[in-house]
Amino acid sequence: MVSTIANAADGMAISYGETGAKGLFQQPYILFLSIFASLGGMLFGYDQGVISGVLVMNNFGKQFPMLASNSTLQGWMVAVLTLGAMVGAFVNGPIADRISRRWSILLANIVFLVGSIIQAAAQNIVMIFIGRFIAGLAIGGLSMVIPLYISEMAPSNLRGSLVSLQQLSITFGIAVAFWIDYGTQNIGGTGDSQSPIAWRLPLALQCAPSLILSVGTFFLPYSPRWLLLKDREEEAEATLLQIRRVPETDPRVRLEILEIKAAVLFDRETTAVLYPTATTSWQITLERYKSLLTIRHLNRRLVIACLLQFIQQFTGINAIIYYAPQIFQSIGMTGESVDLLATGVVGIIDFVFTIPAILFMDGWGRKKVLIIGGIGMTISQLIVGTIYAVYKDSWATHPAAGWACAAFVWIYIANFAYSIGCVNWIIPSEIFPPGVRSQAVGLAIGTNWLSNFIVALICPRMLNSIKFGTFYFFLAFCIFLIVWVYFFVPETRGVSIEEMDKLFGGNQGEADAMRMANIRQRLGIGYNDFDELKAKDCDIGVSQIENA
Ligand code: BGC
Repeated sequence: MVSTIANAADGMAISYGETGAKGLFQQPYILFLSIFASLGGMLFGYDQGVISGVLVMNNFGKQFPMLASNSTLQGWMVAVLTLGAMVGAFVNGPIADRISRRWSILLANIVFLVGSIIQAAAQNIVMIFIGRFIAGLAIGGLSMVIPLYISEMAPSNLRGSLVSLQQLSITFGIAVAFWIDYGTQNIGGTGDSQSPIAWRLPLALQCAPSLILSVGTFFLPYSPRWLLLKDREEEAEATLLQIRRVPETDPRVRLEILEIKAAVLFDRETTAVLYPTATTSWQITLERYKSLLTIRHLNRRLVIACLLQFIQQFTGINAIIYYAPQIFQSIGMTGESVDLLATGVVGIIDFVFTIPAILFMDGWGRKKVLIIGGIGMTISQLIVGTIYAVYKDSWATHPAAGWACAAFVWIYIANFAYSIGCVNWIIPSEIFPPGVRSQAVGLAIGTNWLSNFIVALICPRMLNSIKFGTFYFFLAFCIFLIVWVYFFVPETRGVSIEEMDKLFGGNQGEADAMRMANIRQRLGIGYNDFDELKAKDCDIGVSQIENA
């Protein structure tokens, strides 16, 4: 019996077509849903990006002179958002389990609107800080639930591409924020006559996408995986039929439902055996968190998900996103255009180079993309640090060196954008079993925000003290990324979420195998189902389990 079960999913994954652009156009409905849900990423990018332009506006300085003159306070104003986001990502895990991924998106948007209105209407520094913290809570929540939601809805052949839309949306938000700041600073003139609208408007405008997303949640379907977690099987099947856009008779949908159901039942029955005394939902949640730390294969996944987030931040991305103008000035660039070259061009490159990830992520695989991106980031950081070290006292007489430095900062951004910029959202949202998925994604994305906070805090000091050493510091993490991914991160491309156990060596003991065999027998899933699919000429695809 056990071997039948092993065979049933061995090397097979239900697929709904091609990867990349072709696959996306074959499935326009799920593409549209994912683009829409990704508006949450836009709020993230916008709110993160808008503040640097606002901080330097004349009228903002007049309104909040203490903030304008105190760089420590300014640093905290940027950081308070990341702290809020860390809390938001963490608490939204259990919320997304309880009220659904869909309604947790709505809740986060309501919180975001409150935070944004407080910021845009701020009369004192306290209001700015509170507004940013509240908006941060929402952004953190959205940054964990959107990839989770998309990943649970996507067919395996498009999951990487669709989740990467979150990153595209973040980069779009960062770029739009910059250009809006750039435009609104002229309201009333850039000098003393500048109107308060110059900075209140960009802060208020972020309400627009949030309102659109809020209304849209009433039309978004529930995640079928969440519905099955709540035993709403009929709705799950109807939703899956709706999002896969196939006729009712298509056997793949029924099989997908059964596979998800088997995973949910397995999780539930294993929890009952492991934690027989946990009966209330609170106790069960606590046990689930504990299991992430104590059960080996879950722990391995958690380490991968969290370390990926930590490394993402310590490759130095936000050192550039937050401090690009200072970095560009320190490499000898002066004048009005510095901000434009630094933040504006960085934003556009970040956006444009995320597009290849959407097209190729499911074809190339996460590992290859991470390693190639890691090599590109390593080379760029090495060149930037070295040029900086050599020309640090003679930028004025070597303008070409300054330009070369800037070019490699841009090349670094491009390599970040298509690789770890996207993969860090994909891997956590796809590798965990149903019972711990949302908690684990919350912990991972919380780690991202915590690391973001630390980098924002230490970076200005490093740029002032060890100067070019800052780039060598980040370079060390880029090298670590390559080696770690090569040896320790399994390839998850094309593998269905329900098959991930095989990659991570989970639930492979005899008792687990028997339990799963029993569940599959009860549900009537067997090897024949795949044969039947083949006979009906359905594309079942071949799962890409490599390198476990
Ligand atoms: C990171 C952010 C970063 C952004 C830049 C995201 O993946 O998590 O911290 O600012 O990429 O594109």
